[in-house]
Amino acid sequence: MQILRRVFQIILYKIKKYIIVFLSFIGLGYVCWLVDTYVKLRYKFEALYLGTKSNRKSKYNLFNFRRNIHRLEKGLSYATLKDVFAEDYIYDTVYCLREGEKNSAFDEDSITWGKAVLKEYFSKVEHTEKVKKAYSVFQPLLSTNRFAENEIPYLESERAQSDISYSQLMNMALRRRSIRHFIDKEVSEDVIKKAYDIAKMSPSACNRQSFQYYFYNEKSIVKKLSQIPGGVAGYDIPTVIVIVGNYSGYFDERDINAPVIDASLAAMAFLFALETLGLGSVCINWPNLPDREAKIRNVLDLKASEFVIMMIGVGYPDPNGKIPFSKKRSADEVVKINKLIK
Ligand SMILES: Cc1cc2nc3c(=O)[nH]c(=O)nc-3n(C[C@H](O)[C@H](O)[C@H](O)COP(=O)(O)O)c2cc1C
Repeated sequence: MQILRRVFQIILYKIKKYIIVFLSFIGLGYVCWLVDTYVKLRYKFEALYLGTKSNRKSKYNLFNFRRNIHRLEKGLSYATLKDVFAEDYIYDTVYCLREGEKNSAFDEDSITWGKAVLKEYFSKVEHTEKVKKAYSVFQPLLSTNRFAENEIPYLESERAQSDISYSQLMNMALRRRSIRHFIDKEVSEDVIKKAYDIAKMSPSACNRQSFQYYFYNEKSIVKKLSQIPGGVAGYDIPTVIVIVGNYSGYFDERDINAPVIDASLAAMAFLFALETLGLGSVCINWPNLPDREAKIRNVLDLKASEFVIMMIGVGYPDPNGKIPFSKKRSADEVVKINKLIK
């Protein structure tokens, strides 16, 4: 039976092109393409479907809480503060905090930041019926010291100073290149976390950051993982990070790109941070193909709502290793000024 199925799959694969041409001829090409694409990308679509569904089902979760806290801090940052705002979600937000804290479901940073913003909110807005109701849930939560006084909106003039000049940043950009040859030197988890402390400051949609960086430095696991995508055949990657997005942080399919963009913005800062720590890196493409998805799920225990965004190989560069020149497209070529106006 197994052999018959395999033979059938191979025949189908071989004649697929002709079937598509035939269906296109009778006007069903697009439908055929849709089905084919869905089958190919099913892990990603399933992650989106199951993730957003689970978010809506248990809406009092960390990512919805973080989103709401961010909406509050934006409301508190308006040049002219409204008398009252967020009435439609303030109760949900404090209820979510109470449950998250009670069930130890939220991390310390989210709790301390959330409480600071909520305290500021309740001190600034008019206490209407809805706000009063939410405040009665919030007030008892302030009695613990899990609270960060200064994590509230602040003036631009108080922003952290930076002494990095354009030319210094340019030097960093010129130095960072994809490194594919490494020396045999251990990469500690501490150095990866240190680099991530810079990456985490990257922008993200509503400050949710619904993704993980899974770091592996155990040789046999690294070998298994780095072979799956197929883009680094022939290179000896010493450690690997698998960047995984999670759609359970979103309640709407419109956010299909959010974890990918968020994780990728953080990745660029992460690559720069690695350079400052003497490390080199190479991004590794993740092909959204069913066989690769199945393979990685044989090695990693990913949730159905999780999906791989990309991998990053990290290590100490081999000074004798060669680096492709990889000439970039120029600003004139890419940056179009005031174009596409109708
Ligand atoms: C999403 C992504 C996927 C990539 N996948 C691979 C890969 O599978 N194998 C590889 O050797 N390099 C990979 N790279 C590295 C690119 O080839 C490299 O960034 C590009 O050629 C520019 O060179 P540079 O990084 O040295 O500036 C990838 C880069 C990105 C951003």
